[in-house]
Amino acid sequence: MKTYSITTPIYYVNADPHLGHAYTTIVADSLARFHKLSGEDVFFLTGTDEHGDKIVQAAEKQGQSPQEFVDTISARFQALWPSLGIANDRFVRTTDPAHKQVVQDFLQKVYDAGDIYFGEFGGHYCYGCERFYTEKELEDGLCPQHLTKPEFISEKNYFFRMSKYLPWLREHIAATPDFIRPERYRNEVLAMLESGALEDLCISRPKSRLTWGIELPFDKDYVCYVWFDALINYISALGWPDGADFARFWPGEHLVAKDILKPHAVFWPTMLKAAGLPLYRHLNVHGYWLVRDTKMSKSLGNVVDPLQMGRSYGLDAFRYFLLREMHFGSDASFSEDALIGRINADLANDLGNLFSRVLSMTAKYFGSIVPEGRGLAEEDAAIAELCATAMRNYSQLFGHVQFAQALESLWELVRALNKYVDSQAPWTLYKQGNMERLATVMLVLLTAMRKIAICLWPVMPGIATRMLEQLGQSVQADSAPVASLEAEIGDFDGLQPGTALAASSNLFPRIEKKDAESGNSKNSTGKALRKEKNRAEARQGQATAPADTTTQAEAADTTSRRPEIDFEQFKAVDLRVGTVVVAEKHPNADRILRLEIDFGEGTPRQILSGLAEHFTPEDVLGQQVCAVLNLPPRKIRGLVSHGMVLTAQDGKGLRLLTVSGAVDNGAEIA
Ligand code: ME8
Ligand code: MG
Repeated sequence: MKTYSITTPIYYVNADPHLGHAYTTIVADSLARFHKLSGEDVFFLTGTDEHGDKIVQAAEKQGQSPQEFVDTISARFQALWPSLGIANDRFVRTTDPAHKQVVQDFLQKVYDAGDIYFGEFGGHYCYGCERFYTEKELEDGLCPQHLTKPEFISEKNYFFRMSKYLPWLREHIAATPDFIRPERYRNEVLAMLESGALEDLCISRPKSRLTWGIELPFDKDYVCYVWFDALINYISALGWPDGADFARFWPGEHLVAKDILKPHAVFWPTMLKAAGLPLYRHLNVHGYWLVRDTKMSKSLGNVVDPLQMGRSYGLDAFRYFLLREMHFGSDASFSEDALIGRINADLANDLGNLFSRVLSMTAKYFGSIVPEGRGLAEEDAAIAELCATAMRNYSQLFGHVQFAQALESLWELVRALNKYVDSQAPWTLYKQGNMERLATVMLVLLTAMRKIAICLWPVMPGIATRMLEQLGQSVQADSAPVASLEAEIGDFDGLQPGTALAASSNLFPRIEKKDAESGNSKNSTGKALRKEKNRAEARQGQATAPADTTTQAEAADTTSRRPEIDFEQFKAVDLRVGTVVVAEKHPNADRILRLEIDFGEGTPRQILSGLAEHFTPEDVLGQQVCAVLNLPPRKIRGLVSHGMVLTAQDGKGLRLLTVSGAVDNGAEIA
């Protein structure tokens, strides 16, 4: 069985985890799940980095001993991960006795091999980075990371002969294209190696200055430099040298952000080489999450709480957003608006809508039982082919840590399926009594939906499980839904006729933007206004919203009645007749027509309406239509709508409300 192992950095425990840590750990979790889905034997490691000056300082601030302090924060990291859907196999702490032992064994081994020596050293020490800088590396005399003045320290220390291995490392990186990826970071490391700025690595701290660390096995007056200690976690957690997990899962791959590229790309491979161990397979390096163009970091105090995001927007939706929004390797900006935008567009509108439409149609037409198909027509075969292509691309891109592109290729399929629903118009087939064709169309849709749910399991394990359950599949919590993704790609099948399905689905309720024109939702008038606005939008949504999850079948609900209103309320609605003078497709929304309607106001009004599935622009151009004019303006994919065109909807389709004979533009409706 093929094995796969993935690690995150072990995080410093000098503060609580934030979105940046959550991102790396969620990506690692998704990769672990992806490889499980590919039938591999997987090991996923995360943990905490608990030694060093920073920790001692943070503990002092809290009036705690270092050990008390690290116990508390490490426990918080451990508790966080399951609540973000993360299922790591082990959690390593650098204060674990087993880890300390491995670090000492490793040091001794390198020492015995002659690659550690004792010497005098003067250098510019940055407490923030916990490392020495050479003159060359400083920028205007300041630490390039923290922009603070490092302290010049001169003392006797132990050094690792890193320089001896640098030419070899350069060769290895040059010969192994995927060793560090994406490529920009590989180039950065090659440039670093060619610059000549790298020297031997100081790996000790005198106890007179720092005691919170692992004692050197060959000199009890010194403790180990925190980075040398920390990097070894990747093998101490596997029980190096003779643990079964080490034999099984090493070498694996690492996942880090660009802030810690150098220790992972330079220190760690040379350390492994000096100890005679095989190198890791890949170092996967991502960019920063930014908040308004600044790196999110605990020292800057602009952190986003991942738990809060999961609670407010749904854990799986949040995970999807992180993987879809950040192009792995580049920086990305975090904002709740961007998160809401993706949830509404990709999840509610595209994916959720597909599930909802197809399941309620299957309920209506086949009593929620998977029908028997009758051979694929050309357009069905095209979907089957697209499904295989999308899955193959998804799988390849995901394996190469290109998550955004992988998801985008899957969404090409999702959007094609929504179009297929529109073009095949199951409601028309049903009306025509063409049950054979209807059965095939529904089976095609359901089959593709099952494949999509399987693909999404690594990213959205909870939602994928719900999708599969709605499709009548039995899923075991926390194990991959199928044994081999590869095997799923080839054949367009997998859903047994006769399987019972859920009758409806509402996976991703639409989310209204917080800071819309009505302003701050925190003050109470604002709240009342918002509520009013939401209601208005919800009503408006029935006829115009692109993300409307109402299906044709569902829309045929003609029986439920609304509570009585008084005449004044009715009179408050500004209803008018106008003539459509411009009609065209919305440039960014397939289902929407952009209309300009003359209501006798001087200039025509722009109204966006969800008519495009039912009418071409030519159908409505020149028609007199009825509309509500005094709704708040509403932005839909970049354009603003100033009103709502009235329509009547039933199971068969959508009709425009017009007048029985021409009237003046702007004529009141009462
Ligand atoms: O460096 N955007 O720990 P650390 C994206 N203990 N990722 C971010 C981020 C941001 N704004 N902020 C943090 C250490 N991260 C060492 C590691 S490993 C042997 C020792 C994530 O707590 C990202 O993964 O400072 C980054 O590399 C890591 O947190 C740094 O965590
Ligand atoms: Mg850091």
